[in-house]
Amino acid sequence: MEISRITPFELIYENKEISELLGSIIFNPTFGKIQNIAQSLYAKTQGRFYVIKSDGLLIGLMGLSKIDNHKLVVNHFAVKAPFQRHKIGTALLTGIIEAEGVSEVVVDASEEDMPFYKGFGFKIQKSEFEEARGRRFYCVFLK
Ligand SMILES: CC(C)(COP(=O)(O)OP(=O)(O)OC[C@H]1O[C@@H](n2cnc3c(N)ncnc32)[C@H](O)[C@@H]1OP(=O)(O)O)[C@@H](O)C(=O)NCCC(=O)NCCS
Repeated sequence: MEISRITPFELIYENKEISELLGSIIFNPTFGKIQNIAQSLYAKTQGRFYVIKSDGLLIGLMGLSKIDNHKLVVNHFAVKAPFQRHKIGTALLTGIIEAEGVSEVVVDASEEDMPFYKGFGFKIQKSEFEEARGRRFYCVFLK
């Protein structure tokens, strides 16, 4: 498995494999929405977008923002369905923490993502209910 950072940010919507997998975790995905995400989050200097491949095929991705040089905020995270629960997500996040040299990762997670983050070692700092998006959990991982 290879982990690599995607630059330039245009590849996020120009590359079909990446845009399709990113689209799978977005509500009503369109080309415009994906382009807008890439431009608003990943064109910035804080933007980080990583993919993980197996035999050259994309199997997972993670998009983050780097804050104050020591902290990452997870914005997007997906592993292709047939590869889920095979520690791909764990390998990807571990590799990114290493590559970025950070000591902290935070995420605003939904109830369904919680098992992954809990299992990785994130601690729930705040739990709140938002009607539209369901219950959210602000989680923190300290290395
Ligand atoms: C959430 C996600 C990115 C995790 O990646 P993954 O490669 O499947 O995760 P891992 O295999 O590294 O999981 C490690 C541990 O986390 C926990 N875990 C992960 N997904 C879980 C799930 N759906 N249900 C219960 N536990 C889960 C388990 O403890 C797992 O270890 P185990 O399989 O030995 O029990 C992936 O499942 C996914 O893409 N899900 C759908 C999209 C999504 O929800 N994305 C996040 C929105 S931002």
